[in-house]
Amino acid sequence: MSAPEDGTDSAPDSAPDSAPDSAPDSAMEAEFDTVAAWTEEAVEALGRDHAIPAACRGSGSPADLAWLARGLDLRDDETFLDAGAGLGGPAAWLADHVTDRWRGRPLLTEPMVHAARSARRLFGFPTVAAVSEELPVRSDSVDVAWSLGVLCVTPSRDAMVAELRRVLRPQGRLGLLVLERGEAPLPEQPEGNDFPTREELDDLLGDAGFHVDDEIDAARLPGAPSAWSERADRVEEHLRRHHGEHPAWHAAQEQERVMGRLLRERYIVTRLLRATAR
Ligand SMILES: C[S@@+](CC[C@H](N)C(=O)[O-])C[C@H]1O[C@@H](n2cnc3c(N)ncnc32)[C@H](O)[C@@H]1O
Repeated sequence: MSAPEDGTDSAPDSAPDSAPDSAPDSAMEAEFDTVAAWTEEAVEALGRDHAIPAACRGSGSPADLAWLARGLDLRDDETFLDAGAGLGGPAAWLADHVTDRWRGRPLLTEPMVHAARSARRLFGFPTVAAVSEELPVRSDSVDVAWSLGVLCVTPSRDAMVAELRRVLRPQGRLGLLVLERGEAPLPEQPEGNDFPTREELDDLLGDAGFHVDDEIDAARLPGAPSAWSERADRVEEHLRRHHGEHPAWHAAQEQERVMGRLLRERYIVTRLLRATAR
């Protein structure tokens, strides 16, 4: 895999060191950039053992990641891409859990520049600030990729899935965590999110040249162990204590409230899929 095409990490080091302090332009920016960057500070304060749970907040639980990892079967010096990596927690979890069979390093792409920079500082992986519709990665160069919780926030699902297919080698493996909506109209709409239906998702993957090998409703998998949840809670508490008055915190909390309700009442479900590039 040509890590970034020019061989450099492009999460900007020139950006100010502290997290953004101005009001974010959107709820998405609040949640995925401002609060993400504050999370790096929380890990510094609370300790390294908080890094992975902190950097997976709002995405997969360890059981989700384990289900995906099992089928993706990353090994030897295969190349691995996390597209829309957020703070990099899932990729760091994966790297920790395949040390006995994989010698590589994850490449992370993430469009929110503060989040991308924090991910690189937290875990030291090559991290590029880029949207998944235009990955700065050579065609046919990736063995395994995953993209978790991103399909519902991209402005173009078609372009994103086509791009994942472009960078994966034939027979390359793809893992997805997708928030999928059912038939019922949503009682509330989290800003910036557009959830595919099951049928849309199947068509999307088939049209782009993927064969779905396996899938599961993540509600069937166990929740996070208490040690993981306690660390995530301590991070949440730290963020609330230090940033609870900031507009970005309120915007992100409101997004989380709406998402929590939609998931709890099963207007949306978390589907995990493993697919192969044909
Ligand atoms: C729910 S978060 C999940 C983050 C990470 N994958 C995880 O599981 O922890 C969604 C992520 O997608 C990113 N994102 C938004 N639009 C994107 C796009 N067009 N391409 C790639 N990532 C995008 C957001 O900035 C955010 O980090």
